[in-house]
Amino acid sequence: MKYEIKKEQVHDTTVDVVKKMLESSDKLNLKDYDATYKNFRWEDYYDEIKWFERGKTLNMAVNAVDKHIGTPVENKIAVIWESKDGNVEKYTYKQLYELSNRFANVLAKLGINKGDRVFLFLPRIPEVHITFIGILKTGAIAGTLFSAFGYDALKDRLGHCDARVVITTPDLLERVEHIAEDLPALEYMIVVDREGKFEDKEVKGKKELNYSSLMSDVPAEYNPMMMNVDDPAYILYTSGSTGKPKGVVHVHGGALIQHLTGKWVLNFNSDDMYWCTADHGWVTGVVYVILSPLSNGMTTLFYEGRFDSEKWYSLIEKYKVNIFYTAPTAIRMLMKYGDELPKKYDLSSLKHIYSVGEPLNPEPIRWGYEVFGRYFHDTWWQTETGAQMIVNFPCMDIKIGSMGKPFPGIIAGIVDDDGNELPPYQEGNLALKRGWPSMVKEFWNNPKKYESVFKNGWYITGDMAYKDNDGYYWFMGRSDDLIMTAGERVGPFEVESALIDHDAVNEAAVIGKPDPERGQIIKAFVVLNKGYENTPELLDDIKRFVKQHLAGHAYPREIEIVDSLPKTRSGKIMRRVLRAKELGLPIGDLSTMVK
Ligand code: PRX
Repeated sequence: MKYEIKKEQVHDTTVDVVKKMLESSDKLNLKDYDATYKNFRWEDYYDEIKWFERGKTLNMAVNAVDKHIGTPVENKIAVIWESKDGNVEKYTYKQLYELSNRFANVLAKLGINKGDRVFLFLPRIPEVHITFIGILKTGAIAGTLFSAFGYDALKDRLGHCDARVVITTPDLLERVEHIAEDLPALEYMIVVDREGKFEDKEVKGKKELNYSSLMSDVPAEYNPMMMNVDDPAYILYTSGSTGKPKGVVHVHGGALIQHLTGKWVLNFNSDDMYWCTADHGWVTGVVYVILSPLSNGMTTLFYEGRFDSEKWYSLIEKYKVNIFYTAPTAIRMLMKYGDELPKKYDLSSLKHIYSVGEPLNPEPIRWGYEVFGRYFHDTWWQTETGAQMIVNFPCMDIKIGSMGKPFPGIIAGIVDDDGNELPPYQEGNLALKRGWPSMVKEFWNNPKKYESVFKNGWYITGDMAYKDNDGYYWFMGRSDDLIMTAGERVGPFEVESALIDHDAVNEAAVIGKPDPERGQIIKAFVVLNKGYENTPELLDDIKRFVKQHLAGHAYPREIEIVDSLPKTRSGKIMRRVLRAKELGLPIGDLSTMVK
């Protein structure tokens, strides 16, 4: 693909517009965005995925895996796994089919029924794909948990939706055992021990069972449950700006948009090699590491290790990755290691590169072009939307800094607080017309909260944005206190709750502080209890405590000890005041603050 850069005036700034000169070898799956968007009806695309009964019943797992059996895809590699030590395992679609059938049989044998909650608490190992797909086949609801979660984060999530089973590893097991007594609904821990040593036992009234023994004891055939389009498939707990995390429930009918976004946005072609660096603990991992690439019959690289610039470049070279999907923080971390390092690797296999999770500023896009010879295409979406919503399509010019345009079938708008649409260039709430196939079906056990996110037929995303005259969307920030740190979503309330559980902490308030690498870092303002002194050792201890109790990624990197916190007369902490002070911005209306 060749590019030409033009300047364009957008609002009050001049932006670079990347014009693409398409060549026939570019093989774009979506060629004409405007025409497709204009005439789009979901039902016209039903035949893209596998149904039991067209438009009515299906199973997301059958669409992802079983439909390929008996086709040339069955012997294709679905997942290439590389461990952090460099061991490689490859799984064909046929193997994934049989192994997930076995796991579905394991669950059936344990008495797991349609609608029961079964969670993965696993590092990035092949059993993630196997067990996730297996759970969906039984009609149970699959949940995933980030492997950095600590005791309280696990307890809140597993306890809130009465999970019956957790699949984990010997290394992570202790964290579940630690809270097991607080989880009355939990019956089984299935332990994936890749060294094969784990022995079944009972701890605190819960059965701990060896995964391999269970798997070898059941047949490789299974009759997947027929699900309605709006039957739940998976649940992801995600942080909000207030309260504990919400259980975002997604339905089997989401398979259609998962498939189409993979095909049209990520431009999945069957001979391409794909790598998405997201963790399955978050929605990008569930949808674009597991479900969408499988639905499109792709070969996906699944790397166990963490970020490592040399390793990442070497993986792109080794596996000749064609399509790469990552996050702005990762791009900025790659940038930090400079332009010389990537020159040591052959990265010429890359055809399409994408980003998600935080604002993608012009600088990493330009750097990406220097290093990869491609432009990062930004994609915008959320856990609640279940699939990419506003994106830069390969066939479309990119206005650098814009999130792009709505996916066909998605009606986006900028609305005021009453849900009235605003004209171009006016900043407001980014909203989506209610009712696309992967829209969150419910927040587990929280119907009041669910209805509160809709206004006047719009789903209100919590993001602020504006639209330009050509229908491109531009991200402005959040309308609330939600923190995005290194692309991971953290609710201030959860961090504050973990902080005040520390003996030394009397009160705490948490904000997102801009950070050049991580987008935001978590900063805590803490009032100490009497008898405690502000020492570096105490601050380290508080950080360690939050890591252990909440999560390895959600601890405050900065802690400032203060005498008191700004509060409203009703006692609510005014995080915006702390944020404004931290950033040296105008503090705004203080009429409700206690002086
Ligand atoms: O604030 C937006 C930001 O991430 C939030 C959603 O977080 P989560 O549910 O964890 O899902 C992340 C990945 C799908 C959004 O409300 N966000 C996501 N993508 C972008 C973004 N902010 C700016 N630009 C994006 N492309």
